Amino acid sequence: MSTMHRFEGKSVIVTGAARGIGAATAKRFADEGAKVLLVDLLPEVLETAKSVGGQGLVLDVALPGAGDAIVEAALAHAGRIDVLVNNAGVGGSKHLLKSDDESLSRIIDINLISLLRITRAVLPHLPQPGGSIVNLSSIFGMVGYPGTTAYAVAKAGVTQFTQQLTSEVAHLGIRVNAIAPGVVVTPMTAGHLQNPSYVKLMVDSTPMGRVCQPEEQAAVIAFLASEDASFVCGVTLPVDGGYLAARYTPNY
Ligand SMILES: NC(=O)c1ccc[n+]([C@@H]2O[C@H](COP(=O)([O-])OP(=O)(O)OC[C@H]3O[C@@H](n4cnc5c(N)ncnc54)[C@H](O)[C@@H]3O)[C@@H](O)[C@H]2O)c1
Repeated sequence: MSTMHRFEGKSVIVTGAARGIGAATAKRFADEGAKVLLVDLLPEVLETAKSVGGQGLVLDVALPGAGDAIVEAALAHAGRIDVLVNNAGVGGSKHLLKSDDESLSRIIDINLISLLRITRAVLPHLPQPGGSIVNLSSIFGMVGYPGTTAYAVAKAGVTQFTQQLTSEVAHLGIRVNAIAPGVVVTPMTAGHLQNPSYVKLMVDSTPMGRVCQPEEQAAVIAFLASEDASFVCGVTLPVDGGYLAARYTPNY
C-alpha cells in the first residue's frame, strides 16, 4: 500500500477495472485517498470495487452512450470527476490476412473509438485547471510486432489521440498522457505467458530481463495523473523494462 495520499478528495474513473492493470490502478488510487468508479463489462467488477472500497459499474465501454452512463455514475458516487483512466482493452488481434471484418472493427472500437467517445463525455466535467487523463497504449503501438495488426493500429491511435487532445485541452489546465506497457502479467497475457517460446522471446528482448506486475503500471499511471507530473503533458511513457529503448535480438 502506498504511503502517499495524492488523491484525497478526488474522484477517479478507471475503465476495464475488474482485473489486471485496471484493478491494480483502481486499488492504487483508492489507497491514495480517491473515490474510484470501476467500469467493466465483467460483473466481477462489482467484487473488485468492493475490495478496493470503490463503486462498480457493469458496462461495455464500446456501446453508444457509455460515456454519459459513466459520467452519471461517477457524479452520483463522488459528485465530481478529476481523473479518467482509459484502460479497458482487448487483445486477440491477428495477422491482417487472418483477420475478419468483425474482429477488426471490434478491436479498434474497444481499444480506440471508445476512448474518444468516453473522453468526449468526461472532458466537460474535469476541473480546469487540474483535470487529468491517462490512456493505455502499448509497446506494440510504438513498433511493429507480427500478428497484432488491429491491436497495434488502435494503440498507435491512442498515442496520437494523447498528443491531439493535448493540443486541444492543455491550455485549459487539463493534462493528457499515456503509458506504453511492456508485457504485464494479467489475464490478457495469461495464454501467451504459458508459451515458453513467447516468454523467452519477450524476456530476451527486454533489457531488464523480465515481465512485470500490474502494480508497476498502476504506480506510473497514478504518477502521471498526480500533481507530481504537473508539467508532463502529451507523452506516451514506456513502462517496458527498456524494451523500446534497446531491443536486443534474442540470445545476443
Ligand atoms: N498485459 C499487458 O501485457 C499489456 C501490455 C500493453 C498494454 N496493455 C493494455 O493495458 C490495458 C489493460 O490490460 P490488461 O492486461 O489488464 O488486460 P485484462 O484483459 O486483464 O483486463 C482488461 C479489462 O478490460 C475489460 N474490458 C475489455 N473490453 C471491455 C469493454 N468493451 N467494456 C468494458 N470493459 C472491457 C475486461 O473485461 C478486463 O477486465 C489494456 O488496454 C491493454 O491493451 C496490456
